[in-house]
Formats: sequence, structure tokens, C-alpha cells
Amino acid sequence: MGTKQGDHVFYRDLHRDYPRLVRGEGIYLYDADGKRYIDGSSGALVCSLGHGNREIADHLRIQAETLDFVPIARFTHGPQIELAERLARLGSADLPYAYFVSGGSEAVETAIKMARQYHLERGERGRFLVIAREPSYHGNTIACLAAGGHPGRRRNYEPYLMPSPKIRLPHCASCPYNLQYPSCDLHCANVLESEITGAGAENVSCFLFETITGSCGGVIVPPPGYFGRIAEICRRHGVVILADEVMCGAGRTGPFLASSRFESMPDILILGKGITAGYSPLAALLVSERIYRGFEDGSGAFVNNYTFAANPLSCAAACTVLEIVERDGVLDRVIPAGLYLQSRLIQLAGRHPQLGGVVRAAGLMLALDVYRDREKMEPFPAEEKVGEKLARACLDEGLVIYPALLALADGHGDCFLLGPPLTITVAEIDELVARLGRAVARVFPAA
Ligand SMILES: Cc1ncc(COP(=O)(O)O)c(C=O)c1O
Repeated sequence: MGTKQGDHVFYRDLHRDYPRLVRGEGIYLYDADGKRYIDGSSGALVCSLGHGNREIADHLRIQAETLDFVPIARFTHGPQIELAERLARLGSADLPYAYFVSGGSEAVETAIKMARQYHLERGERGRFLVIAREPSYHGNTIACLAAGGHPGRRRNYEPYLMPSPKIRLPHCASCPYNLQYPSCDLHCANVLESEITGAGAENVSCFLFETITGSCGGVIVPPPGYFGRIAEICRRHGVVILADEVMCGAGRTGPFLASSRFESMPDILILGKGITAGYSPLAALLVSERIYRGFEDGSGAFVNNYTFAANPLSCAAACTVLEIVERDGVLDRVIPAGLYLQSRLIQLAGRHPQLGGVVRAAGLMLALDVYRDREKMEPFPAEEKVGEKLARACLDEGLVIYPALLALADGHGDCFLLGPPLTITVAEIDELVARLGRAVARVFPAA
């Protein structure tokens, strides 16, 4: 008996050494040897208020002492009611209802089921297909993998994956249709219509997308008009619109909802990660009046439940996070801080030809590509594991980054995400970029 780590944990990668973290404070994490890391990616773009926040910890303790668990099939509770009210206020008037679960994958899967049952309530029994985009990532459960377009994560489980037609990402810098915006007339959105009519609109349940693409593509922001066109097409064909904001929502890009940056709101919007800033697991579906009425005027009962859904501790943590976000004006800092980090990264990329010249950014969600040949946008071969090498060099320099995939059709190529806590200061951004610079220089020493 014995693992590489010398304990009983079944780790994600049994061949890897995992430093043991013992403490977090602000943007910093500390391991058992006293080494200090900058959390440059807020974990997986989760810990938006930084680590070790006493106010949130105190509210969690008080909630645990007052009411620890509620069976939500029988009861409701204060933190759930308060959180739904806060989300209705901070989010969008178009999405007044909130349905709570415990994580992003559960939430995406629940949204797929909610769309399907909405159609059933209206007697449209044939609608089941989920049309989505590729590349994309929507979570790791079977339905999420099926809807998602992440070749590496799908591969082992292909036999279980239901059919889910895909359209390509709206990636103007490297248009998958070889067109130019705006003369393309949003071809990348228009193809959704052919996909729906090809499958038969009477079979299509929903269209699922990341409002701003995260780990599978790296901060791809659609061009103006894209979401307006998507909404027109979906409405014309009775298709429910599902926006996955598990990564880009909860203030990560500046506004509380990333969809507020664009022309239209979806029918269901999914939040996760940053909603509790990592202090407890929670995700939420924000739901439109139309979808809600579909259930209310029908059976009234959404057939879906999880034991830990709407957990009072998690809801209390999220309420405190949103209280801090509103009270301290946290979101007002996001775009200026993101622009400053972007400008520093552009300077860094100027010194290293392997880093993409364009730093894609939406608030404090940023992506840098890594290329063997930047001019030709040619990635390193997958066997070279350059993304992994860079992430390790960053850890050696005391920086956590989030390795991601380039938005290429075959799903290979490296980029990485930066998404530090939204509370990061200018001096801390400078320190982050200095550490990143040293890590990049280790992996790509000057010729
Ligand atoms: C866009 C998106 N959707 C869904 C998920 C799945 O969330 P979780 O890992 O909490 O299940 C993720 C996780 O990274 C994500 O980035």
C-alpha cells in the first residue's frame, strides 16, 4: 500500500507530486513548507474575494451553529430566500427566479433537464436535442461532456455521450469559417439556424454556450450582434437559450452577469464558481419568467433533486459574498484592474516570441496563447506538453495559473488563463507579472 504522496487519497494524477496547501490570505496561498504562491487564477476562477476572508468565515460559522442542513424537498430557509432576492437584484430583471444546486456541472445538467421539461409541460414531447458549440467546456458529468466540445475530456466516455450537434465558436481573430467581421454577416451565428432546421426544430430543446469562453478556447468574446442574432434564431424556432456563466459570471468580467455586456439575456443563465468565491460549493440557475410560467401553468413540479442542493451554509456564504461585492463596490475595480493586467501582459509578450501577441481580456478574465510560431499561429505539438511545463515553472516561481486549450478545431494547442481575485491591487499585479516573466524565461530561455 502506498501512494506517491504517501497517503490514502486517490489523486487526479497518480504520478504527480502535489504540494500541500495549509493556508490562504488575500491573493496568497501557503504550502506546508512555508512557500508562498500568488493565486493568479483564483483556483479555477473561483476565489474572487481572495482567501481567508474573516467576514465570510464568521457568517459560515454562525449559519452552521444556527441551521446546518435543510431537506429542501420539504422546507425552505432564510439564506436561500435572501440569496434568490439578491441575485434577482444584482443580476437581470429578465431572470427573476433562482434554482440552487451544488456545482457547475450539476447546474448545467439541471438546465438541460429544465429546458426539456419546459417543452414537455407545453406538450412538445419531441424536443430533446442540445445544440452547443466547439470547442467548449460545460462540466464533467455525462450530459455535460456530451454537450461540451472538449475532445480530451470526452474521449474515454464517447460510448455514453448522447448526440449533440455543434457549431463553431465566434472567434474573429482566427475565424473558423475564414470570414471577416462585419462582412461575414455573423455567419457563425447564422449556422445555428441551419443546424436547427437540419435536425428538425421539433426535436431541438436548447442551445447551450459559454457567454465568454473559458478554459476551452481562452476568453473568446463574441463580436457585437452575435447574441442578438442567436436570440432571434432561437426564439423563431422555440429553442430555449442556456448561457453557461459558471466561469465568466458573478462579476469576473466586470458586470455581475457577462450577458449584460451583450444584446440579449438567455432564458436560463448558469452561475457557479465565484458565486460563493470558493467558501462553499454552490451553483445557481437564474430563470426567466417565461420558463417559470411554463412550469407553473403545467405540472408545477420540476422533476430533479439533489440532497445538498441549496445548502444553507453555501447560500449563507453566497449572501455574504454578494453583500461584500455590493457594499465594497468590488465590481467597479474589475475592468480597470483587468486593463492594467492586460497592458502588463502585452509588455511581457513583447519580450517572448512564444507568447501570443494578443492578450484576450474581459475584466479580470485573461488569456495568453503559447505558440511555436506566433506569426503563423502554429501551436507546439501536444507531446511537448508546453502548457504543463509553463504551469509547473509558474508553481516553482510561486504563481498559480490555469492551463487552457487554444480554440483550434482539433482541440490541441496551449494557452493559459489568468483570473486573480477581483480584489487584487496594482502592486500585486506587478508582482504577479514579474513571477510569470521569470517562469516564461525558464521555459523559453532567450536564444
Ligand atoms: C464554463 C464552465 N461550465 C461548467 C463548469 C463545470 O463546473 P464544476 O467544475 O463546478 O462542475 C466549468 C468548470 O470549469 C466551466 O468552466
